[in-house]
Amino acid sequence: MKKFTFTLMAFVTLMVACSQETVEQAEADPIEDGEAVVAEEGNEEEEAEQQEVNEDLPNISILATGGTIAGSGSVGTNTTDYQAGDIAIEALIEAVPEMTEIANITGEQIVNIGSPDITNEHLLTLGNRINELLATDDVDGIVVTHGTDTMEETAYFLNLVVKSDKPVVLVGAMRPATAMSADGPLNLYNAVLVAGHEESVGRGTLVSFNDRIASARHVTKTDTTVVDTFVATEEGYLGRIVGGVPHYYTEITQSHTTETPFDISDLEELPQVDIIYGHQNNDPYMLDAAVENGAEGIIFAGSGNGSMSSVMQEAAMEIMEEGMPIVRASRVGNGTVSHKDDYLTADSLNPHKARILLMLALTVTDDEEEIQEYYDSY
Ligand code: SIN
Repeated sequence: MKKFTFTLMAFVTLMVACSQETVEQAEADPIEDGEAVVAEEGNEEEEAEQQEVNEDLPNISILATGGTIAGSGSVGTNTTDYQAGDIAIEALIEAVPEMTEIANITGEQIVNIGSPDITNEHLLTLGNRINELLATDDVDGIVVTHGTDTMEETAYFLNLVVKSDKPVVLVGAMRPATAMSADGPLNLYNAVLVAGHEESVGRGTLVSFNDRIASARHVTKTDTTVVDTFVATEEGYLGRIVGGVPHYYTEITQSHTTETPFDISDLEELPQVDIIYGHQNNDPYMLDAAVENGAEGIIFAGSGNGSMSSVMQEAAMEIMEEGMPIVRASRVGNGTVSHKDDYLTADSLNPHKARILLMLALTVTDDEEEIQEYYDSY
């Protein structure tokens, strides 16, 4: 796998970089032969000016996956009509040369897509690449640039499968790189700061956004367009970045990373787990459709405390009797679903994070008590 070290070149504005260094939008299947697509190496001039390694600085590897932070539009005032996953890792890094004052930066393009297109295959590629990098002495921390729409799913997946205490920090932007007041450059700088900070070690996967630092376990996207979209409503942020310094105030109490039994190194795929949304007039055909299409587990995004209509309960019971786990989460957005006699429950995980945990749990066990323990612990 090719990688490159970045130059501290003369400052290149991202607008210029966008026009010069865009990569083609990755197509539906951007991973070839299980290998990550990597960025082109820089030109000769860039290679000649490669950043000299400063032994006093942490070595941070930025793995780029696309999203709005790598998005470009045609008008600076337009923050909603743009192409996500359009700008290559080289341009992202060159637009924030200040990062080279706080870290030795290397970058890799894992994929360049909008995050709704992230698949289980991408998750496995990313998780394995991170574990590979963190196992070496050459890398002290990882930053993953990612679209915000599904960032919390990838972040929570990494929180469960990374086998290292070294920091892994996800970052993105709500405004494309070409927007007036784009939030990406400072978010990226801050993420590198957090990934290289000694107090970030051992805290699980982090999301650094809008001057805040949050745990992947608790944080969720709460707004469609505003820049302070990532919130951990009940649990709060772990810390914040003030004047270029990360300050931590709270700790995650759930187990993560090195404390979980999930080993993805030999996995070629993850079990299919589907989410079914609870609403009035629910019809069980959605449950049947999931089963018929190969689901090995189902998350039910129930109303209130994970509630299900009577007809759904009847159909769900039949499916569970066949040995398929159904986990009740809540569509409410906050709160813990209380334990229920006949069902698994997702604790305070939202349905899409509950899906991530059930996929991983099913790679280890089909014992329902054990799976419930995972929900209670992670
Ligand atoms: C995406 O998730 O890829 C698009 C939206 C964003 O990054 O904010």
